[in-house]
Amino acid sequence: MSAPRGDLTVTALYTSGVWWWAGFSGAELLISREARSVFRVTNAALALVGCLRADRRSLRRGLADRHALIDGLAGDCGASVFVELAAGLSRRGLAFSADPSVRYVEVDLPAVIRHKETLLQRSEAGRRILARSNLQRVGADVASVALPSLVPTTDKASESPQRICVIAEGLMMYLDADQQRGLWCRIAAWLRDHPDSLFLFDLVPMSEQPAPGLLGRGLGALMGLFTGGRGFVVDPRDRHDIRRELLSCGFGSVELHEPDSDEGAAVPMLVFACRGWRSSTP
Ligand SMILES: C[S@@+](CC[C@H](N)C(=O)[O-])C[C@H]1O[C@@H](n2cnc3c(N)ncnc32)[C@H](O)[C@@H]1O
Repeated sequence: MSAPRGDLTVTALYTSGVWWWAGFSGAELLISREARSVFRVTNAALALVGCLRADRRSLRRGLADRHALIDGLAGDCGASVFVELAAGLSRRGLAFSADPSVRYVEVDLPAVIRHKETLLQRSEAGRRILARSNLQRVGADVASVALPSLVPTTDKASESPQRICVIAEGLMMYLDADQQRGLWCRIAAWLRDHPDSLFLFDLVPMSEQPAPGLLGRGLGALMGLFTGGRGFVVDPRDRHDIRRELLSCGFGSVELHEPDSDEGAAVPMLVFACRGWRSSTP
């Protein structure tokens, strides 16, 4: 990818390798030689760190479990409009937009969106997906994009507000607490006009990470290398602090979900499911 060193987009190459390795539908259309290399090198480095620290939990297994959990929560939420922030090379939009009644908007930095389109151009199946009118890609920074501009406010047929599912997977750990809060409050304000909407994101609070030096430090160093020093952010908040912050941003309720996986086999993951206001009609 044209992503230079020092750019967080290299992490999208790793996760695209994970979705392909785990066999998620559509991942085969987005995998590249470059992503396979990042996947292999990262896994080798993590295996080394794991041996040194006697920590054999698998990051790729944890990520795959998280991805499946978010797929399930999003698929069950009853929304027909999906906005995936920091969508990277995720195949979720490809899979969900196979249903023509769904509208799916993917947002990521312009270079990543361009790269995703180039990858899809390589195959007939990818070109058909690019031509879908219900799958839109937006090259923008999530810190500044005007969220309400991403989808129409009301459903044309019913003239009622759209029920939206907003997803931000694999993003929050790269933002500091103020940046996270800023984004959460913007999303809460937006979804206020969209009853029964859902916002899903993942974040394992620093305070719940394995003891410093276990997996996290090795991974942090690796991410620091890839991202020009912008490794994971140090943060004292626990899951309850984060939940309280989300409520104070204006979400009506916040549920926490953890993937089911073999005890100790995968790096732990935590998904926050935030709902706005419920409509008065059932
Ligand atoms: C770990 S990847 C996750 C990608 C995707 N969500 C997935 O799970 O496969 C992080 C993604 O966040 C994107 N990203 C980071 N900062 C961003 C920003 N300010 N605006 C938009 N996207 C951003 C990167 O380009 C990258 O694609």
